[in-house]
Amino acid sequence: MKEFKVGLLGFGTVGAGVVEILRDNKSLLEKRLGASLRLAQVADLDVFRDRGVTVDPSLLTTDAESVVDNPEIDIVVELIGGCEAARSLVLKALANGKTVVTANKALLALHGREIYEEATRNGAEIFFEGAVGGGIPLITAIKENLCANRFHTILGILNGTCNYILTRMTHNGEGFDAVLKDAQEKGFAEADPTFDVEGIDTAHKLAVLIGLCFGNLPDFAKIYVEGISRISSIDIEFARQFGYVIKLLAISKWGKDGIEARIHPTMLPVDHPLAAVDGVFNAVEVVGDFVGPVTWIGQGAGRKATASAVVGDVIQAARNLMAGTRRRTAPLGYLADVMENLPIKSIDKLIGQFYLRFSVIDRPGVLGKISTILGEKGISIASMIQMKRKAEARVPVVMMTHQCCEADIRAALKRIDAEVEICDPSVLIRIEDNGRD
Ligand code: HSE
Repeated sequence: MKEFKVGLLGFGTVGAGVVEILRDNKSLLEKRLGASLRLAQVADLDVFRDRGVTVDPSLLTTDAESVVDNPEIDIVVELIGGCEAARSLVLKALANGKTVVTANKALLALHGREIYEEATRNGAEIFFEGAVGGGIPLITAIKENLCANRFHTILGILNGTCNYILTRMTHNGEGFDAVLKDAQEKGFAEADPTFDVEGIDTAHKLAVLIGLCFGNLPDFAKIYVEGISRISSIDIEFARQFGYVIKLLAISKWGKDGIEARIHPTMLPVDHPLAAVDGVFNAVEVVGDFVGPVTWIGQGAGRKATASAVVGDVIQAARNLMAGTRRRTAPLGYLADVMENLPIKSIDKLIGQFYLRFSVIDRPGVLGKISTILGEKGISIASMIQMKRKAEARVPVVMMTHQCCEADIRAALKRIDAEVEICDPSVLIRIEDNGRD
């Protein structure tokens, strides 16, 4: 039986999952592939740590370069993460003509162009199903099964940590800090959660999806990114009263004059398919011109789910090697010379509905001043709630707007915060309501 040699860079959580699948499902993989996959080298800075899975010690090395330079290795699996070491190793593996499988969304979001060009130059292939949505098979589906469609919308819950935190805040009424601390203690959230809770991980994944759906390599720095750390329980409760749930959404919409690309807490109607996706689960909805909306839900992270996507890529890579059909599909499913270069639109240009919360001193004329300023900016109020005053004179006032422009809303909030008897800075949350206004 033909044998393909796999070199693994990064023996962390997902790397251990890959080793486990190659071992536990060996005969199944052979039945599906008609060849065997042999783990030939495993590189990690720490080769002694117990990962709960054993590897022949002779395969372990701290020298990752020796893996990408090993002429025997057919497929290099990069699971180091981050950009510095991963970038140079992936480029070198591609330059050496090897097929690369990676789950590294930061690498693709920040250095995708260089990596895809290197692959093209060398007739090498790169697969990255595990980079977005963990085990959810959406990248191959967009590139292959849905390639008849022109896409115009991407909506995604792409970070399990944020979705877990928001789910507990929504269903248990807990505060952000308490849930995050508990999630860290239980190992669901990283010790340094910044990348997750501030939306950066989600933005990396959205950048990859924009490439796949719109054939556009976005300038990552232009993607608007706002995380969940300022979401409070009171906003979740008001959202519920208005018939919405708050999710951290990645949103991108194609337009002739540019692409919307934004990550922010978003109010979704409770009956939206993504509104019911709870806990650590991820979900993505794309809308194609012929297929309409397609939604995937599944485990977006973790050892087993991500390793499932990675090994799926390894099998696809090996099938292509066997058939001698490398480069059958371009990395993003578009030929390099037709990739568009549409700009990312500034968030100021966003037209949408907004939730606004003001923390005001309950005295005559305050509401009048707020609505006058909003009115002067052409912002129309669709509905409003003012909580009854308790012991304190401070009360929350919540408004939902009709469609308006974000730049106008921001200008209005700046004036309101400066001119009205406001106790805390005003809160703005964007609403995604599929044009129900
Ligand atoms: N840290 C990510 C999450 C998984 O919480 O979803 C890896 O992308």
